[in-house]
Amino acid sequence: MSQQLSVKHLLGIKDLQVDDIRKIFATAANFKDVINRPIKKVPSLRDITVANLFFENSTRTRLSFELAEKRLSADIVNFSASSSSVSKGETLIDTVNNILAMKVDMVVMRHPKPGAAVFLARHVNAKIINAGDGTHEHPTQALLDAFSIAEKLGELKGVRVVIIGDILHSRVALSNIFCLKKMGAEVMVCGPVTLIPRYIADLGVIVEHDLKKALDWCDVANVLRIQLERQDIRYFPSLREYVMLYGINREILDSLKKDILVMHPGPINRGVELSSDAADSRQSIILQQVENGVAVRMAVLYLLAGQMD
Ligand code: CP
Repeated sequence: MSQQLSVKHLLGIKDLQVDDIRKIFATAANFKDVINRPIKKVPSLRDITVANLFFENSTRTRLSFELAEKRLSADIVNFSASSSSVSKGETLIDTVNNILAMKVDMVVMRHPKPGAAVFLARHVNAKIINAGDGTHEHPTQALLDAFSIAEKLGELKGVRVVIIGDILHSRVALSNIFCLKKMGAEVMVCGPVTLIPRYIADLGVIVEHDLKKALDWCDVANVLRIQLERQDIRYFPSLREYVMLYGINREILDSLKKDILVMHPGPINRGVELSSDAADSRQSIILQQVENGVAVRMAVLYLLAGQMD
């Protein structure tokens, strides 16, 4: 298998071929072995400088990329909008071009605006990795989610995955749908009518509003946070009602006739979409997702750096 991806940047899962995803998974599996050794570092990105540009808050993605870059021996510069000249009115292009003038090869960017990573890739001469752009895509999250399911269940083809919660505002949902469908999984979305966009059925997913029916159907439940910060109107009467209808807890998991996997991209609102006894249960693979995130991001950085002009 060639080590080349069919894309120059990682802007979204929509652009990837099935072979690209397979290459990323195979490379991530090798890197997972590396990061479990006593010496966790390889010299693969020794001459590469990566800028991590975070225009929106992040814990997991930012730390995971930074660790992945360090494990690959890259040089790193970190930028966060809150402590930068963005607050003085500097544009995205000016900010990034100033950083690139310092001879940066790759940019990992999180931005609140959908399409920001695509815009950047058109205007600057560096490899761009989208670390989440508004409500659009979060490709490395979908890759690590799918990798974690395949690792646990042995395959993705035919696996039934339900994505539960705020589908409307979720870049994780969209990237997961693209990734899982490409890899042959069956995908359902479940949540209140107001939080499921009408176009979603056109992506080949099943829509279900009854949580119990969705959980009875699935092998894997990927539970999403209600993104109150992206909601300018009220999409449901109260959090209490949301918890009653869509909250997952030990009791509902025990009522199923099988053990399903429970996933969450984080950050979890404990007691809202997931109770602590479900989040910390033996069925939960939430911390394995985080662990796999480093290996998957190492794979993406490594494969993109390998096709540097
Ligand atoms: N899953 C995820 O994107 O988490 P962060 O917002 O903490 O990066």
